[in-house]
Amino acid sequence: MKILHVISSPRGAASQSIQLGNAIIDKLKAANPGAAIKETNLVTQQFPHLEEAHITSFFTPAENLTDANKEAIRHSNDAIRDIMESDVLVIGAPMYNFSIHSALKAWLDHIVRVGVTFRYSANGPEGLIQNKKAYIAVASGGVYSEGPRKGMDFIEPYLKMLLGFLGITDITFIWAEGLSMPGVQETAMEKAVSSIVV
Ligand SMILES: Cc1cc2nc3c(=O)[nH]c(=O)nc-3n(C[C@H](O)[C@H](O)[C@H](O)COP(=O)(O)O)c2cc1C
Repeated sequence: MKILHVISSPRGAASQSIQLGNAIIDKLKAANPGAAIKETNLVTQQFPHLEEAHITSFFTPAENLTDANKEAIRHSNDAIRDIMESDVLVIGAPMYNFSIHSALKAWLDHIVRVGVTFRYSANGPEGLIQNKKAYIAVASGGVYSEGPRKGMDFIEPYLKMLLGFLGITDITFIWAEGLSMPGVQETAMEKAVSSIVV
């Protein structure tokens, strides 16, 4: 089993989504001895915001790519190769302002490529990333599964839709929620880790 761990928290050793992602990986390793892990830290090695050069290059046929075009899609190609080579994705998704961190958004913008990770068929769009299992390690200060903030989470619906669009439909969200709420925060990580089923 090849596991790709995608990190998008800027908080390094203090990060709860990294801790939760590592707990998911520990359980995967226990169930699959010999599993190989590749880590991508999107904060220490950022993907650029999409610029004109990236977009132009994405839509240039392979045989017409200039050296500059090839350089512009290098990040994208590397990220897509890492995904295609993996069996399992563990994506850390800390909540920042009710959604994902912009480093994760930038990475996603580089992996959505027509003709490469999805295509338009007679039946509409078709995802080309097949046979992957994804775990999303979400960390949030508030509680979104119930109570007054239910419906204010833009992480789970967005990632479910976007990854599904690319063909990644087997997705399990693991939430460490309420990390800023006294009375909840004390047991939030323990509850999250015990909810991991691999
Ligand atoms: C700039 C910033 C924005 C945040 N925005 C939210 C938010 O909108 N909703 C929420 O529930 N928690 C929010 N939090 C709390 C984080 O989700 C929480 O600290 C979580 O542990 C972040 O994940 P990480 O530890 O992996 O970085 C925010 C924290 C920071 C520093």
